[in-house]
Amino acid sequence: QARFAVVGQPIDHSLSPHIHRAFARQWSVDLDYGRIELAPSALASGIARFAESGGVGLNVTLPHKQAVMALCAGLSERARRAGAVNTLSYVDGGWHGDNTDGVGLVNDLSQRRGIDLRARRTLLLGAGGAACGVAPALLDAGIGELVVCNRSPERADALVDALAAPERAHSRYWRDLPDLAHFDLVVNATSAGRGIEPLTLPFHLAGAQTVAVDLSYGRAAIDFLAWARAAGCGQAFDGLGMLVEQAAESFFLWQGVRPETDAVYADLRRLAD
Ligand code: ATR
Repeated sequence: QARFAVVGQPIDHSLSPHIHRAFARQWSVDLDYGRIELAPSALASGIARFAESGGVGLNVTLPHKQAVMALCAGLSERARRAGAVNTLSYVDGGWHGDNTDGVGLVNDLSQRRGIDLRARRTLLLGAGGAACGVAPALLDAGIGELVVCNRSPERADALVDALAAPERAHSRYWRDLPDLAHFDLVVNATSAGRGIEPLTLPFHLAGAQTVAVDLSYGRAAIDFLAWARAAGCGQAFDGLGMLVEQAAESFFLWQGVRPETDAVYADLRRLAD
């Protein structure tokens, strides 16, 4: 039985085991998929131990997506561009890091929701690990202008510099929000919903044509989805669809086959609501 797990802190509520077991049933793959809680100081030793015990694949979640890059013997192009890793495969005695978050978000929006992302003027809120993970894939999906807006200016500038697309990607700062108007896509990649300080956004950022998506789900997405409703966004989603799609892409990397995601998503939606 091949061993897989998701590693993070906290990890108790991770839905990844549920999703991967459902995918495995579809393809009659015999796998063991668990949860491993590791503090940042125990990341390297914990991952090494997992490999020694026969582990062949890991999903990596908060707060380790950036730190784990240093433990990789190799990185995919999209992991390098994202500056973050969410999928590890044990190959030839070393970990290979990839990032399926960006393609997960794009597949959720374009395939599941049928949204044409091309030329959409996009506001990306946040410039931390989550934002870095999805920004390159959004550009690749053909969105129009990408405005990265972050509370601390340095991180917004660093993300935009790393994207190396000066004609399409621009940084603005939280204090500029009142002066920004009307986006076709607003992506919340801040961790505001997980913290104590609430997320406050002006309403004129969005309108009836706007698609709003939070990368979080559950309680962490409540503030942003309430803003999206109040701002009159035509469509608003949490990150549950992205979660299923990034998992599907990881499953494909490990097993070489693509799982069907609609039924798994519907099942999770029922559990989450
Ligand atoms: P993650 O891996 O979830 O992205 P992170 O790297 O700690 O976590 O990044 C958190 C992001 O949420 C940052 O962009 C942070 O802004 P700063 O860089 O200025 O810290 C943003 N953030 C957190 N709380 C916020 C709040 N209340 N309002 C606006 N942005 C917030």
